[in-house]
Amino acid sequence: MISVLFVCLGNICRSPLAEALFINHLIEQGLNDKFKVDSAGTASFHLGELPDKRTRNMALKVSNITLTHKARQFKATDFLSFDYIVAMDKSNFQNIMKLRLENAKAQVVLMRHFDSMIQNEDAIPDPYYGTESDFEEVHYMINDCTFGLLKKIIK
Ligand code: 4NP
Repeated sequence: MISVLFVCLGNICRSPLAEALFINHLIEQGLNDKFKVDSAGTASFHLGELPDKRTRNMALKVSNITLTHKARQFKATDFLSFDYIVAMDKSNFQNIMKLRLENAKAQVVLMRHFDSMIQNEDAIPDPYYGTESDFEEVHYMINDCTFGLLKKIIK
């Protein structure tokens, strides 16, 4: 079993979408039963909430996916439960690393480093204060990066 945790700030826009799109790629490749996938936020603003309505609408419109994840906060013990922790931007990465345990098994990586088209970017931009087209752009970006990440993991 390979375990992957996607992490952003609020766990209502980027990371629950990454979780769902990664699972979508797993299903398409018949690998769903070989992976455990989850998402979390470094902040506690939205605990227990469904993903942002704009993220849910875009997921349904573009990828025909209904997002059902409930926001939870990233915790230090996630370092022991997951093989890969995937941060959406550098700020998430730093906040994750502040909680790192000595005996961590997880490898912490940046989602954008798996983008098939762009090499020098670090961030999946936070769409929370953005427009509908920002949510659309982030959707396609995360779809591409989750595909790239899966390719890398199974290589
Ligand atoms: P996320 O987006 O980190 O992609 O879930 C955000 C969601 C909520 C807030 C910021 C970013 N907020 O400030 O409440």
